Amino acid sequence: MPALDTRGVLVALVNLIVLCVLRTRTQDLPPPPHRDPFVYQGHHTDTFQVSHQLPDGVEMKSYLFKNRPQTFFFLLDKSPIPLELSVTPCASPIVWSLERKPLPQEDFYDEHRVDPFLEFQSSLETPVTLGNWSEERRRTYRDPTASAGLYSITITSTRSDSTVRILATTTGATHPVYPALPADRKVRVLGTARRNVTFAWPDAAGAIVARPIEYCIAVTRVRNFRTYCSFMSHTVGDEKPVLSKKDQWGFSWEKEKHKQLRRKANPVEPMLARKIVSQQCVGSNREFTFKGRRGKTYYMDVYAIDKETNKSEAYEGAEVKLPEKRSKKMQIVDGGRMTLKLKQDNVPQMVTFEAKERMPLLSVEFGVCAGKIPFEILHNKKLVHRSIVRRWKRVRMKNVLPGNYTFRFPRLKRRKAFVSMHVTSRPSLLTLPRDMSINVYQPMTTCTNITVAWMGTHKKQKYCLYVKELSEIRSLKRHRCSSANDRPKSERVLCMRYRNRDVNKALMKSTITGLKPRTTYVVDVYLSRGRSGPVAYKSVNVRTKGGRC
Ligand SMILES: *[C@@H]1O[C@H](CO)[C@@H](O)[C@H](O)[C@H]1NC(C)=O
Ligand SMILES: *[C@@H]1O[C@H](CO)[C@@H](O)[C@H](O)[C@H]1NC(C)=O
Ligand SMILES: *[C@@H]1O[C@H](CO)[C@@H](O)[C@H](O)[C@H]1NC(C)=O
Ligand SMILES: *[C@@H]1O[C@H](CO)[C@@H](O)[C@H](O)[C@H]1NC(C)=O
Ligand SMILES: *[C@@H]1O[C@H](CO)[C@@H](O)[C@H](O)[C@H]1NC(C)=O
Repeated sequence: MPALDTRGVLVALVNLIVLCVLRTRTQDLPPPPHRDPFVYQGHHTDTFQVSHQLPDGVEMKSYLFKNRPQTFFFLLDKSPIPLELSVTPCASPIVWSLERKPLPQEDFYDEHRVDPFLEFQSSLETPVTLGNWSEERRRTYRDPTASAGLYSITITSTRSDSTVRILATTTGATHPVYPALPADRKVRVLGTARRNVTFAWPDAAGAIVARPIEYCIAVTRVRNFRTYCSFMSHTVGDEKPVLSKKDQWGFSWEKEKHKQLRRKANPVEPMLARKIVSQQCVGSNREFTFKGRRGKTYYMDVYAIDKETNKSEAYEGAEVKLPEKRSKKMQIVDGGRMTLKLKQDNVPQMVTFEAKERMPLLSVEFGVCAGKIPFEILHNKKLVHRSIVRRWKRVRMKNVLPGNYTFRFPRLKRRKAFVSMHVTSRPSLLTLPRDMSINVYQPMTTCTNITVAWMGTHKKQKYCLYVKELSEIRSLKRHRCSSANDRPKSERVLCMRYRNRDVNKALMKSTITGLKPRTTYVVDVYLSRGRSGPVAYKSVNVRTKGGRC
Protein backbone atom coordinates (compact mmCIF):
# COMPACT_ATOMS: atom_id res chain seq x y z
CA MET A 1 0.00 0.00 0.00
CA PRO A 2 2.19 2.81 -1.30
CA ALA A 3 -0.33 5.56 -0.52
CA LEU A 4 -0.25 4.92 3.20
CA ASP A 5 1.02 8.02 4.96
CA THR A 6 2.94 7.85 8.20
CA ARG A 7 0.09 9.35 10.14
CA GLY A 8 -1.96 6.35 9.14
CA VAL A 9 0.78 4.04 10.26
CA LEU A 10 1.06 5.88 13.51
CA VAL A 11 -2.60 5.64 14.33
CA ALA A 12 -2.58 2.01 13.30
CA LEU A 13 0.34 1.14 15.53
CA VAL A 14 -1.10 2.93 18.51
CA ASN A 15 -4.36 1.17 17.97
CA LEU A 16 -2.73 -2.18 17.70
CA ILE A 17 -1.01 -1.52 20.97
CA VAL A 18 -4.23 -0.40 22.60
CA LEU A 19 -5.96 -3.49 21.33
CA CYS A 20 -3.27 -5.69 22.76
CA VAL A 21 -3.56 -3.93 26.08
CA LEU A 22 -7.30 -4.35 26.16
CA ARG A 23 -6.98 -8.01 25.46
CA THR A 24 -4.47 -8.55 28.24
CA ARG A 25 -5.71 -6.18 30.85
CA THR A 26 -7.26 -8.77 33.05
CA GLN A 27 -3.98 -10.55 33.60
CA ASP A 28 -1.92 -9.68 36.66
CA LEU A 29 1.28 -7.94 35.68
CA PRO A 30 4.69 -8.28 37.34
CA PRO A 31 5.96 -5.28 39.37
CA PRO A 32 8.43 -2.73 38.00
CA PRO A 33 10.93 -2.62 36.46
CA HIS A 34 9.58 -5.74 34.77
CA ARG A 35 6.04 -4.50 34.97
CA ASP A 36 5.08 -3.64 31.49
CA PRO A 37 1.47 -3.46 30.55
CA PHE A 38 2.17 -3.98 26.92
CA VAL A 39 2.40 -7.07 24.87
CA TYR A 40 5.00 -5.25 22.85
CA GLN A 41 7.41 -5.68 25.71
CA GLY A 42 10.91 -4.77 24.62
CA HIS A 43 9.83 -3.55 21.23
CA HIS A 44 8.77 -0.10 22.20
CA THR A 45 12.10 1.58 21.90
CA ASP A 46 12.50 -0.11 18.54
CA THR A 47 9.26 1.12 17.06
CA PHE A 48 9.47 4.53 18.70
CA GLN A 49 10.75 6.42 15.66
CA VAL A 50 7.69 5.33 13.72
CA SER A 51 5.02 4.91 16.37
CA HIS A 52 6.08 7.70 18.74
CA GLN A 53 4.87 5.37 21.44
CA LEU A 54 6.85 6.04 24.62
CA PRO A 55 8.06 3.12 26.72
CA ASP A 56 7.83 3.37 30.50
CA GLY A 57 10.95 4.65 32.22
CA VAL A 58 13.21 5.10 29.19
CA GLU A 59 14.12 8.54 27.89
CA MET A 60 13.55 8.73 24.14
CA LYS A 61 15.04 11.18 21.68
CA SER A 62 13.41 12.59 18.58
CA TYR A 63 14.30 15.05 15.85
CA LEU A 64 11.93 18.00 15.44
CA PHE A 65 11.58 20.26 12.43
CA LYS A 66 11.07 23.92 13.16
CA ASN A 67 7.41 24.84 13.59
CA ARG A 68 6.19 21.32 12.74
CA PRO A 69 4.28 19.85 15.69
CA GLN A 70 4.94 16.22 16.52
CA THR A 71 2.85 14.08 18.79
CA PHE A 72 4.07 11.33 21.09
CA PHE A 73 1.94 8.86 23.03
CA PHE A 74 2.05 7.15 26.34
CA LEU A 75 -0.48 4.59 27.33
CA LEU A 76 -1.39 4.24 30.98
CA ASP A 77 -3.54 1.23 31.52
CA LYS A 78 -4.10 1.40 35.27
CA SER A 79 -5.26 4.05 37.62
CA PRO A 80 -4.62 5.72 39.89
CA ILE A 81 -0.90 5.48 39.38
CA PRO A 82 1.91 8.07 39.81
CA LEU A 83 2.92 9.45 36.45
CA GLU A 84 5.80 11.70 35.44
CA LEU A 85 6.24 13.12 31.96
CA SER A 86 9.42 15.08 31.29
CA VAL A 87 10.18 16.95 28.11
CA THR A 88 13.71 18.27 27.58
CA PRO A 89 14.33 20.76 24.76
CA CYS A 90 17.77 20.81 23.14
CA ALA A 91 18.82 23.25 20.42
CA SER A 92 15.59 25.24 20.39
CA PRO A 93 12.91 26.32 22.86
CA ILE A 94 9.66 24.42 22.45
CA VAL A 95 5.98 24.73 23.12
CA TRP A 96 4.27 21.58 24.20
CA SER A 97 0.87 20.48 25.35
CA LEU A 98 -0.42 17.41 27.10
CA GLU A 99 -3.77 15.70 26.63
CA ARG A 100 -5.35 12.55 27.89
CA LYS A 101 -7.95 10.45 26.14
CA PRO A 102 -9.72 8.03 28.41
CA LEU A 103 -9.53 4.41 27.32
CA PRO A 104 -12.64 2.95 25.71
CA GLN A 105 -14.76 0.46 27.63
CA GLU A 106 -13.48 -3.08 27.56
CA ASP A 107 -16.39 -4.42 25.62
CA PHE A 108 -16.10 -1.63 23.06
CA TYR A 109 -14.46 -3.77 20.41
CA ASP A 110 -16.85 -6.65 20.80
CA GLU A 111 -19.90 -4.49 20.31
CA HIS A 112 -18.60 -2.50 17.39
CA ARG A 113 -17.83 -4.86 14.62
CA VAL A 114 -16.83 -2.05 12.32
CA ASP A 115 -13.34 -0.89 11.41
CA PRO A 116 -11.82 -0.62 14.88
CA PHE A 117 -9.23 2.01 13.79
CA LEU A 118 -11.83 4.50 12.75
CA GLU A 119 -14.08 3.73 15.62
CA PHE A 120 -11.30 4.16 18.10
CA GLN A 121 -10.67 7.66 16.82
CA SER A 122 -14.26 8.82 16.63
CA SER A 123 -15.93 7.16 19.54
CA LEU A 124 -13.60 8.14 22.30
CA GLU A 125 -14.60 10.86 24.69
CA THR A 126 -13.15 14.27 24.02
CA PRO A 127 -9.57 14.54 25.23
CA VAL A 128 -8.82 16.35 28.47
CA THR A 129 -6.15 19.06 28.19
CA LEU A 130 -3.75 18.75 31.09
CA GLY A 131 -1.60 21.73 30.25
CA ASN A 132 0.55 23.49 27.75
CA TRP A 133 3.96 25.07 28.24
CA SER A 134 6.46 27.21 26.46
CA GLU A 135 9.88 26.11 27.62
CA GLU A 136 13.61 26.41 27.21
CA ARG A 137 14.17 24.13 30.20
CA ARG A 138 13.14 20.62 31.07
CA ARG A 139 9.60 20.59 32.39
CA THR A 140 8.13 17.64 34.28
CA TYR A 141 4.42 17.05 34.52
CA ARG A 142 3.63 15.08 37.69
CA ASP A 143 0.39 13.48 38.73
CA PRO A 144 0.63 11.18 41.77
CA THR A 145 -2.79 9.73 40.99
CA ALA A 146 -2.92 9.72 37.22
CA SER A 147 -5.91 8.21 35.48
CA ALA A 148 -5.62 5.55 32.84
CA GLY A 149 -5.74 6.75 29.27
CA LEU A 150 -3.80 7.55 26.18
CA TYR A 151 -1.57 10.53 26.96
CA SER A 152 -0.47 12.55 23.98
CA ILE A 153 2.31 15.09 24.06
CA THR A 154 2.43 17.52 21.16
CA ILE A 155 5.72 19.35 20.80
CA THR A 156 6.75 22.18 18.48
CA SER A 157 10.26 23.45 18.15
CA THR A 158 10.02 27.22 17.76
CA ARG A 159 13.44 28.66 16.99
CA SER A 160 15.13 26.06 14.82
CA ASP A 161 15.23 22.38 14.09
CA SER A 162 16.07 20.61 17.29
CA THR A 163 15.99 17.38 19.15
CA VAL A 164 13.85 16.74 22.14
CA ARG A 165 14.04 14.13 24.86
CA ILE A 166 10.90 12.69 26.32
CA LEU A 167 10.51 10.52 29.35
CA ALA A 168 7.34 8.92 30.61
CA THR A 169 7.69 7.01 33.83
CA THR A 170 5.45 5.47 36.43
CA THR A 171 8.40 4.65 38.69
CA GLY A 172 9.87 8.14 39.03
CA ALA A 173 9.61 8.21 42.81
CA THR A 174 11.71 5.10 43.32
CA HIS A 175 13.82 5.18 40.17
CA PRO A 176 14.55 8.82 39.39
CA VAL A 177 16.09 9.15 35.97
CA TYR A 178 17.52 12.65 36.35
CA PRO A 179 19.87 13.93 39.06
CA ALA A 180 17.91 15.64 41.81
CA LEU A 181 18.90 19.23 42.53
CA PRO A 182 18.19 21.16 45.71
CA ALA A 183 15.23 23.54 45.75
CA ASP A 184 17.64 26.44 45.39
CA ARG A 185 19.34 25.73 42.11
CA LYS A 186 20.76 29.16 41.36
CA VAL A 187 24.30 29.67 40.14
CA ARG A 188 25.74 32.64 42.03
CA VAL A 189 28.60 34.96 41.25
CA LEU A 190 30.78 35.09 44.35
CA GLY A 191 32.88 37.93 43.11
CA THR A 192 35.03 39.45 40.45
CA ALA A 193 38.61 40.09 41.48
CA ARG A 194 40.06 42.28 38.78
CA ARG A 195 38.93 40.25 35.79
CA ASN A 196 38.60 36.88 37.57
CA VAL A 197 35.00 35.81 37.93
CA THR A 198 34.21 33.16 40.55
CA PHE A 199 30.84 31.47 40.64
CA ALA A 200 29.40 28.73 42.83
CA TRP A 201 26.35 26.51 43.05
CA PRO A 202 24.50 24.52 45.72
CA ASP A 203 25.24 20.89 46.48
CA ALA A 204 23.24 18.30 44.56
CA ALA A 205 24.23 15.51 46.93
CA GLY A 206 21.75 14.49 49.58
CA ALA A 207 19.09 13.48 47.13
CA ILE A 208 16.84 10.64 48.24
CA VAL A 209 18.47 8.19 45.88
CA ALA A 210 22.24 8.71 45.99
CA ARG A 211 23.79 8.84 42.54
CA PRO A 212 27.40 9.41 41.41
CA ILE A 213 27.13 13.05 40.41
CA GLU A 214 29.67 15.16 38.59
CA TYR A 215 29.36 18.86 37.81
CA CYS A 216 30.10 20.24 34.38
CA ILE A 217 30.31 23.96 33.72
CA ALA A 218 29.90 26.06 30.61
CA VAL A 219 30.93 29.70 30.28
CA THR A 220 30.05 31.41 27.02
CA ARG A 221 29.60 34.86 25.63
CA VAL A 222 26.37 33.87 23.86
CA ARG A 223 23.60 33.18 26.40
CA ASN A 224 22.57 30.74 29.07
CA PHE A 225 21.84 27.22 27.89
CA ARG A 226 18.99 25.87 29.96
CA THR A 227 19.72 22.20 29.32
CA TYR A 228 22.96 20.31 28.88
CA CYS A 229 21.81 18.95 25.54
CA SER A 230 21.11 22.51 24.42
CA PHE A 231 24.67 23.46 25.26
CA MET A 232 26.00 20.37 23.48
CA SER A 233 23.86 21.01 20.39
CA HIS A 234 25.24 24.51 20.12
CA THR A 235 28.80 23.41 20.82
CA VAL A 236 29.17 20.53 18.39
CA GLY A 237 26.12 21.16 16.20
CA ASP A 238 23.23 18.79 15.59
CA GLU A 239 23.09 16.03 13.02
CA LYS A 240 20.42 15.42 10.46
CA PRO A 241 17.88 12.82 11.52
CA VAL A 242 19.07 9.28 10.94
CA LEU A 243 16.84 6.30 10.82
CA SER A 244 19.03 3.53 12.08
CA LYS A 245 18.75 -0.03 10.79
CA LYS A 246 16.82 -1.03 13.84
CA ASP A 247 14.28 1.72 13.25
CA GLN A 248 13.55 0.42 9.76
CA TRP A 249 11.06 -2.28 9.18
CA GLY A 250 11.54 -2.90 5.50
CA PHE A 251 8.50 -1.02 4.25
CA SER A 252 9.12 0.32 0.81
CA TRP A 253 8.17 3.88 1.75
CA GLU A 254 10.72 4.08 4.53
CA LYS A 255 13.77 4.85 2.40
CA GLU A 256 12.10 7.62 0.41
CA LYS A 257 10.57 9.09 3.53
CA HIS A 258 13.95 9.06 5.20
CA LYS A 259 15.60 10.78 2.26
CA GLN A 260 12.95 13.48 2.30
CA LEU A 261 13.44 14.04 5.99
CA ARG A 262 17.15 14.49 5.57
CA ARG A 263 16.62 16.92 2.70
CA LYS A 264 14.30 19.09 4.76
CA ALA A 265 16.37 18.94 7.89
CA ASN A 266 18.22 22.07 8.93
CA PRO A 267 19.99 21.22 12.18
CA VAL A 268 21.80 23.90 14.20
CA GLU A 269 25.45 24.68 13.53
CA PRO A 270 28.01 24.95 16.31
CA MET A 271 28.58 28.43 17.69
CA LEU A 272 31.92 30.15 17.15
CA ALA A 273 34.60 28.49 19.23
CA ARG A 274 35.84 31.84 20.54
CA LYS A 275 32.42 32.45 22.11
CA ILE A 276 33.04 29.49 24.41
CA VAL A 277 35.18 30.71 27.27
CA SER A 278 35.27 27.48 29.24
CA GLN A 279 33.65 24.10 29.12
CA GLN A 280 34.75 21.41 31.52
CA CYS A 281 33.70 18.90 34.10
CA VAL A 282 34.96 19.78 37.56
CA GLY A 283 34.16 16.64 39.54
CA SER A 284 32.57 17.45 42.87
CA ASN A 285 33.88 21.03 43.05
CA ARG A 286 31.20 23.59 43.56
CA GLU A 287 33.09 26.68 42.53
CA PHE A 288 34.79 27.80 39.36
CA THR A 289 36.92 30.78 38.34
CA PHE A 290 37.58 32.10 34.86
CA LYS A 291 39.28 35.19 33.52
CA GLY A 292 37.13 37.59 31.54
CA ARG A 293 37.58 40.82 29.66
CA ARG A 294 36.38 44.22 30.71
CA GLY A 295 33.07 45.41 29.37
CA LYS A 296 32.04 41.92 28.22
CA THR A 297 29.09 39.84 29.38
CA TYR A 298 29.53 36.19 30.33
CA TYR A 299 26.91 33.48 30.81
CA MET A 300 27.60 30.69 33.29
CA ASP A 301 25.75 27.38 33.40
CA VAL A 302 26.24 24.37 35.61
CA TYR A 303 24.93 20.87 34.94
CA ALA A 304 24.80 17.99 37.38
CA ILE A 305 25.54 14.82 35.45
CA ASP A 306 24.93 11.26 36.57
CA LYS A 307 28.23 9.58 35.75
CA GLU A 308 26.62 6.20 35.18
CA THR A 309 23.77 7.21 32.93
CA ASN A 310 24.93 10.58 31.59
CA LYS A 311 21.53 12.01 32.45
CA SER A 312 21.79 15.62 33.46
CA GLU A 313 19.95 18.35 35.27
CA ALA A 314 20.65 22.04 34.76
CA TYR A 315 21.13 24.63 37.45
CA GLU A 316 19.66 28.05 36.91
CA GLY A 317 22.47 29.81 35.10
CA ALA A 318 23.78 33.27 35.82
CA GLU A 319 25.31 36.10 33.86
CA VAL A 320 27.86 38.73 34.71
CA LYS A 321 29.07 41.85 32.98
CA LEU A 322 32.57 42.89 33.82
CA PRO A 323 32.73 46.63 34.42
CA GLU A 324 34.42 48.86 31.92
CA LYS A 325 37.64 50.36 33.06
CA ARG A 326 36.88 53.92 33.95
CA SER A 327 38.91 56.21 31.77
CA LYS A 328 41.41 58.14 33.79
CA LYS A 329 41.12 61.87 33.54
CA MET A 330 44.36 62.68 31.84
CA GLN A 331 45.60 66.21 31.45
CA ILE A 332 48.20 67.52 29.09
CA VAL A 333 49.80 70.96 29.34
CA ASP A 334 51.38 73.31 26.82
CA GLY A 335 54.60 71.74 25.58
CA GLY A 336 53.54 68.38 27.03
CA ARG A 337 54.15 65.02 25.47
CA MET A 338 52.57 61.67 26.36
CA THR A 339 52.07 58.18 25.00
CA LEU A 340 48.74 56.42 25.51
CA LYS A 341 48.21 52.71 25.41
CA LEU A 342 44.86 52.01 23.78
CA LYS A 343 43.25 48.64 24.36
CA GLN A 344 40.37 46.87 22.79
CA ASP A 345 38.42 46.41 25.99
CA ASN A 346 38.90 49.95 27.22
CA VAL A 347 36.34 52.68 27.14
CA PRO A 348 37.34 55.63 24.95
CA GLN A 349 40.52 57.23 26.20
CA MET A 350 40.53 60.95 26.74
CA VAL A 351 43.18 63.58 27.30
CA THR A 352 42.23 67.13 28.16
CA PHE A 353 44.07 70.36 27.54
CA GLU A 354 42.77 73.35 29.43
CA ALA A 355 43.06 76.68 27.63
CA LYS A 356 42.73 79.20 30.44
CA GLU A 357 42.66 82.16 28.08
CA ARG A 358 42.38 82.88 24.40
CA MET A 359 45.45 81.58 22.50
CA PRO A 360 46.54 82.64 19.03
CA LEU A 361 47.74 79.15 18.14
CA LEU A 362 47.64 75.59 19.35
CA SER A 363 49.20 72.61 17.58
CA VAL A 364 48.56 69.02 18.46
CA GLU A 365 50.76 66.31 16.98
CA PHE A 366 49.70 62.69 16.99
CA GLY A 367 51.91 59.75 16.14
CA VAL A 368 51.13 56.06 15.77
CA CYS A 369 53.61 53.35 15.02
CA ALA A 370 51.31 50.96 13.16
CA GLY A 371 47.96 51.15 11.45
CA LYS A 372 45.61 54.06 11.83
CA ILE A 373 43.68 55.44 14.74
CA PRO A 374 40.64 57.69 14.64
CA PHE A 375 40.38 60.57 17.07
CA GLU A 376 38.10 63.46 17.94
CA ILE A 377 38.65 66.85 19.45
CA LEU A 378 35.94 68.34 21.64
CA HIS A 379 35.74 71.85 22.96
CA ASN A 380 33.77 71.91 26.20
CA LYS A 381 32.27 68.54 25.21
CA LYS A 382 31.23 69.80 21.77
CA LEU A 383 32.80 68.03 18.79
CA VAL A 384 35.01 70.39 16.80
CA HIS A 385 37.22 68.04 14.80
CA ARG A 386 37.36 64.42 13.78
CA SER A 387 39.96 62.57 11.69
CA ILE A 388 42.40 59.69 11.55
CA VAL A 389 46.13 59.47 12.36
CA ARG A 390 48.32 57.35 10.16
CA ARG A 391 51.99 57.52 11.18
CA TRP A 392 51.92 61.22 12.10
CA LYS A 393 49.40 63.99 12.01
CA ARG A 394 49.27 67.57 13.16
CA VAL A 395 46.16 69.59 13.88
CA ARG A 396 46.72 73.35 14.00
CA MET A 397 44.11 75.51 15.66
CA LYS A 398 44.09 79.32 15.46
CA ASN A 399 42.39 81.79 17.79
CA VAL A 400 41.78 79.16 20.37
CA LEU A 401 38.91 80.02 22.71
CA PRO A 402 39.27 79.41 26.42
CA GLY A 403 37.85 76.14 27.66
CA ASN A 404 38.63 72.45 27.86
CA TYR A 405 39.88 70.72 24.73
CA THR A 406 39.44 66.98 24.92
CA PHE A 407 41.25 64.58 22.61
CA ARG A 408 39.26 61.39 22.46
CA PHE A 409 40.32 58.01 21.04
CA PRO A 410 37.41 55.61 20.61
CA ARG A 411 37.39 51.93 21.51
CA LEU A 412 39.80 49.97 19.32
CA LYS A 413 38.85 47.20 16.94
CA ARG A 414 42.25 45.55 17.28
CA ARG A 415 43.83 44.47 20.52
CA LYS A 416 46.05 47.39 21.37
CA ALA A 417 47.95 50.33 19.98
CA PHE A 418 50.07 53.20 21.14
CA VAL A 419 49.50 56.79 20.24
CA SER A 420 51.84 59.61 21.14
CA MET A 421 50.71 63.20 21.57
CA HIS A 422 52.47 66.53 21.73
CA VAL A 423 50.63 69.78 22.41
CA THR A 424 52.27 73.14 21.87
CA SER A 425 51.30 76.78 21.56
CA ARG A 426 54.56 77.53 19.78
CA PRO A 427 54.56 77.10 16.03
CA SER A 428 55.07 73.48 15.10
CA LEU A 429 57.01 73.60 11.88
CA LEU A 430 57.92 70.03 11.18
CA THR A 431 57.61 69.24 7.49
CA LEU A 432 57.24 65.69 6.32
CA PRO A 433 58.98 64.61 3.10
CA ARG A 434 56.69 63.42 0.36
CA ASP A 435 58.06 59.88 0.70
CA MET A 436 58.89 58.27 4.03
CA SER A 437 60.57 55.11 2.83
CA ILE A 438 64.21 54.17 3.25
CA ASN A 439 65.92 52.73 0.20
CA VAL A 440 68.89 50.37 0.07
CA TYR A 441 71.55 50.74 -2.62
CA GLN A 442 72.00 47.10 -3.44
CA PRO A 443 75.19 47.56 -5.54
CA MET A 444 76.91 49.05 -2.53
CA THR A 445 75.89 46.33 -0.12
CA THR A 446 78.96 44.35 0.92
CA CYS A 447 79.73 41.95 3.71
CA THR A 448 80.38 44.79 6.20
CA ASN A 449 78.75 47.86 4.66
CA ILE A 450 75.25 48.87 3.68
CA THR A 451 74.22 52.13 2.03
CA VAL A 452 70.78 53.61 2.49
CA ALA A 453 69.04 56.72 1.19
CA TRP A 454 65.93 58.67 2.20
CA MET A 455 64.16 61.88 1.28
CA GLY A 456 64.59 65.18 3.11
CA THR A 457 62.81 68.50 2.60
CA HIS A 458 63.55 72.14 1.77
CA LYS A 459 63.43 73.02 5.51
CA LYS A 460 66.38 72.49 7.81
CA GLN A 461 65.41 69.55 10.02
CA LYS A 462 67.13 66.90 12.08
CA TYR A 463 67.53 63.32 10.86
CA CYS A 464 68.85 60.44 12.96
CA LEU A 465 69.83 57.05 11.54
CA TYR A 466 69.75 53.91 13.69
CA VAL A 467 70.68 50.32 12.98
CA LYS A 468 70.06 47.13 14.92
CA GLU A 469 70.54 43.44 14.27
CA LEU A 470 67.21 41.81 13.51
CA SER A 471 67.97 38.79 15.71
CA GLU A 472 68.33 41.10 18.70
CA ILE A 473 64.82 42.43 18.29
CA ARG A 474 62.37 40.45 20.38
CA SER A 475 59.19 42.00 19.02
CA LEU A 476 59.19 43.77 15.69
CA LYS A 477 55.85 45.32 16.54
CA ARG A 478 57.22 46.87 19.69
CA HIS A 479 60.39 47.88 17.84
CA ARG A 480 58.34 49.82 15.30
CA CYS A 481 56.67 51.65 18.14
CA SER A 482 59.90 52.70 19.75
CA SER A 483 60.82 56.32 19.33
CA ALA A 484 64.31 57.75 18.80
CA ASN A 485 64.25 58.83 22.44
CA ASP A 486 63.93 55.20 23.58
CA ARG A 487 66.87 53.87 21.61
CA PRO A 488 70.35 53.45 23.08
CA LYS A 489 73.20 55.55 21.68
CA SER A 490 74.98 52.38 20.58
CA GLU A 491 72.40 51.87 17.87
CA ARG A 492 72.73 55.38 16.52
CA VAL A 493 74.77 55.77 13.36
CA LEU A 494 74.40 59.51 12.92
CA CYS A 495 72.26 62.56 13.52
CA MET A 496 72.38 65.48 11.14
CA ARG A 497 70.58 68.61 10.07
CA TYR A 498 69.83 68.84 6.42
CA ARG A 499 67.94 70.78 3.82
CA ASN A 500 67.91 71.20 0.08
CA ARG A 501 66.16 74.21 -1.44
CA ASP A 502 65.16 72.03 -4.38
CA VAL A 503 62.89 69.57 -2.70
CA ASN A 504 63.23 67.15 -5.62
CA LYS A 505 66.93 66.84 -4.91
CA ALA A 506 66.60 66.55 -1.15
CA LEU A 507 68.05 63.08 -1.00
CA MET A 508 70.21 61.94 1.91
CA LYS A 509 72.55 59.01 1.81
CA SER A 510 74.63 57.17 4.40
CA THR A 511 76.89 54.15 4.47
CA ILE A 512 76.85 52.06 7.59
CA THR A 513 80.12 50.23 8.09
CA GLY A 514 81.59 47.67 10.39
CA LEU A 515 78.68 45.19 10.17
CA LYS A 516 78.74 41.39 10.36
CA PRO A 517 78.50 39.41 7.14
CA ARG A 518 75.36 37.38 6.32
CA THR A 519 73.40 39.26 8.94
CA THR A 520 70.07 41.03 8.69
CA TYR A 521 69.82 44.55 10.10
CA VAL A 522 66.86 46.81 10.68
CA VAL A 523 67.51 50.40 9.64
CA ASP A 524 65.44 53.32 10.98
CA VAL A 525 65.41 57.04 10.31
CA TYR A 526 63.73 59.55 12.63
CA LEU A 527 62.86 63.09 11.67
CA SER A 528 62.40 65.95 14.16
CA ARG A 529 62.41 69.71 14.34
CA GLY A 530 62.61 71.53 17.61
CA ARG A 531 60.22 69.79 19.96
CA SER A 532 58.17 68.41 17.06
CA GLY A 533 58.54 64.76 16.23
CA PRO A 534 60.37 62.49 16.12
CA VAL A 535 58.53 60.86 13.25
CA ALA A 536 59.79 57.47 12.15
CA TYR A 537 60.37 56.59 8.52
CA LYS A 538 59.19 53.19 7.37
CA SER A 539 61.92 50.91 8.67
CA VAL A 540 63.78 48.62 6.29
CA ASN A 541 65.55 45.27 6.64
CA VAL A 542 68.90 44.79 4.91
CA ARG A 543 71.08 41.69 4.76
CA THR A 544 74.86 41.98 4.41
CA LYS A 545 76.55 39.78 1.86
CA GLY A 546 78.57 36.70 2.54
CA GLY A 547 81.71 35.53 0.75
CA ARG A 548 85.25 36.75 1.37
CA CYS A 549 85.53 40.17 2.94
C1 LIG B 1 -2.56 26.86 26.65
O1 LIG B 1 -3.11 27.13 27.94
C2 LIG B 1 -3.72 28.37 28.08
C3 LIG B 1 -4.21 28.50 29.48
O2 LIG B 1 -3.38 27.82 30.37
C4 LIG B 1 -4.85 28.50 27.07
O3 LIG B 1 -5.41 29.79 27.14
C5 LIG B 1 -4.34 28.26 25.66
O4 LIG B 1 -5.40 28.28 24.73
C6 LIG B 1 -3.64 26.94 25.58
N1 LIG B 1 -3.06 26.77 24.27
C7 LIG B 1 -3.07 25.61 23.62
C8 LIG B 1 -2.40 25.61 22.29
O5 LIG B 1 -3.57 24.63 24.08
C1 LIG C 1 42.83 34.91 38.79
O1 LIG C 1 42.78 33.52 38.53
C2 LIG C 1 44.04 32.94 38.28
C3 LIG C 1 43.82 31.50 37.87
O2 LIG C 1 42.67 30.98 38.42
C4 LIG C 1 44.90 33.07 39.53
O3 LIG C 1 46.17 32.50 39.26
C5 LIG C 1 45.04 34.53 39.87
O4 LIG C 1 45.75 34.67 41.06
C6 LIG C 1 43.68 35.18 40.02
N1 LIG C 1 43.84 36.63 40.20
C7 LIG C 1 43.16 37.31 41.10
C8 LIG C 1 43.42 38.77 41.15
O5 LIG C 1 42.37 36.77 41.84
C1 LIG D 1 28.50 8.81 28.88
O1 LIG D 1 29.25 9.69 28.08
C2 LIG D 1 30.59 9.27 27.87
C3 LIG D 1 31.32 10.36 27.14
O2 LIG D 1 30.51 10.99 26.20
C4 LIG D 1 30.57 7.95 27.11
O3 LIG D 1 31.89 7.52 26.92
C5 LIG D 1 29.79 6.92 27.91
O4 LIG D 1 29.68 5.73 27.18
C6 LIG D 1 28.40 7.44 28.23
N1 LIG D 1 27.75 6.51 29.13
C7 LIG D 1 26.46 6.15 29.00
C8 LIG D 1 25.94 5.23 30.01
O5 LIG D 1 25.79 6.58 28.08
C1 LIG E 1 37.81 72.63 32.51
O1 LIG E 1 37.15 71.60 33.24
C2 LIG E 1 37.33 71.68 34.64
C3 LIG E 1 36.73 70.47 35.28
O2 LIG E 1 35.54 70.12 34.65
C4 LIG E 1 36.71 72.98 35.15
O3 LIG E 1 36.88 73.08 36.56
C5 LIG E 1 37.35 74.14 34.46
O4 LIG E 1 36.73 75.35 34.84
C6 LIG E 1 37.28 74.01 32.94
N1 LIG E 1 38.08 75.04 32.34
C7 LIG E 1 37.59 76.00 31.54
C8 LIG E 1 38.55 77.02 31.05
O5 LIG E 1 36.40 76.00 31.19
C1 LIG F 1 83.18 49.78 3.86
O1 LIG F 1 83.16 51.17 3.94
C2 LIG F 1 84.40 51.71 4.36
C3 LIG F 1 84.22 53.17 4.55
O2 LIG F 1 83.50 53.72 3.48
C4 LIG F 1 85.45 51.39 3.33
O3 LIG F 1 86.69 51.87 3.76
C5 LIG F 1 85.54 49.92 3.14
O4 LIG F 1 86.41 49.59 2.10
C6 LIG F 1 84.15 49.35 2.84
N1 LIG F 1 84.27 47.89 2.83
C7 LIG F 1 83.84 47.15 1.83
C8 LIG F 1 84.00 45.66 1.98
O5 LIG F 1 83.27 47.63 0.87
